[in-house]
Amino acid sequence: MLDDDDVPPIDWEALANTYVVANGKGGVGKTTLASNFAGLVAADAAASDGDAGRVLLIDVNGQGNVGRDLGYRGTSIDDEGAAFYEALRTGKPLEPVSGVRPGLDVVIGGAHIGAAPDMLQATYRMRQHRQVLALAVCLAPIARRYDLVVIDSAPENPPLQQIALSSARWMIAPTRSDRASINDGLGSISRQFQLVRKAVNPHLRLLGVVLFGSGSASKQIHRRARAWVAEELGDDAYLFDTIVRYSEAVGQDARHHGRLVHELEEAVASNPKFWDLRSGRAGTDTTVVSATSVSVAEDLANLAREILTRAAEEDAV
Ligand SMILES: Nc1ncnc2c1ncn2[C@@H]1O[C@H](COP(=O)(O)OP(=O)(O)OP(=O)(O)O)[C@@H](O)[C@H]1O
Ligand SMILES: [Mg+2]
Repeated sequence: MLDDDDVPPIDWEALANTYVVANGKGGVGKTTLASNFAGLVAADAAASDGDAGRVLLIDVNGQGNVGRDLGYRGTSIDDEGAAFYEALRTGKPLEPVSGVRPGLDVVIGGAHIGAAPDMLQATYRMRQHRQVLALAVCLAPIARRYDLVVIDSAPENPPLQQIALSSARWMIAPTRSDRASINDGLGSISRQFQLVRKAVNPHLRLLGVVLFGSGSASKQIHRRARAWVAEELGDDAYLFDTIVRYSEAVGQDARHHGRLVHELEEAVASNPKFWDLRSGRAGTDTTVVSATSVSVAEDLANLAREILTRAAEEDAV
């Protein structure tokens, strides 16, 4: 698919801390993982030292679901990807929205980004390398401002997936634990991964696969999933130990309130007491947040630690 056209010079060193969350299948936890990983690391850094540890989250997605997880969807900062689209078109450096959370800047996605591949094709015509490197071109000049860059990618959309994969050093692939998800989802992203590595970004590495929204911590389920992942991606594909447990309530609460899971965990403490509900003191519009968010927040924090530790180990090899 890619012709050998002129490739713009990319500062790959600047992209060494860039992680893309990707899978060819929809609804496997990509956006939840990307938003919470970025948000957790930013919160941790902001809590320990005012200015240190800035994080950038980029929404390469026509649905703009990062905005639901962070609660800015439909607010004044939500341009549905218009500024991002313009940067991709012109090749100028990205201008993220700063301080969406302490230490966390965001490049906002949405409907405009869904139209970006067609626009890039019209703008750069036969220059297919230039099209697929559109994000790398405008991310590299600002990437050194950040200690961590996380990219959320689109499901079932090869052109947008290629744009996201072409800008990253590390790929993390969340998947459900069933065989169809592993075969279809990981199978198709694996093809995009190989293509991008060969054509434009030889630095891209698969950091690991995450079992997301699994109903059980059963060793047998984990073992079987591991075997299927190896079938699809090869024996050396890594499966993270942390499984993000299944909780429909937490998924719903997070997007309903526009809060990350560790922020929900903090809200659990403000749930009304049973007796306040009975006596009417709690009022009628009291929000109750699922207490399971405490466990899911712990899974996501363990996973963030595992991801960063593994990247450091891989870098050291
Ligand atoms: N721990 C959890 N357990 C079960 N469901 C969850 C959990 N966390 C989030 N969800 C829900 O799972 C659904 C899919 O999650 P998410 O949007 O992160 O996946 P995705 O791969 O980004 O989807 P898409 O392919 O549509 O972009 C959402 O409805 C979300 O609210
Ligand atoms: Mg998503």
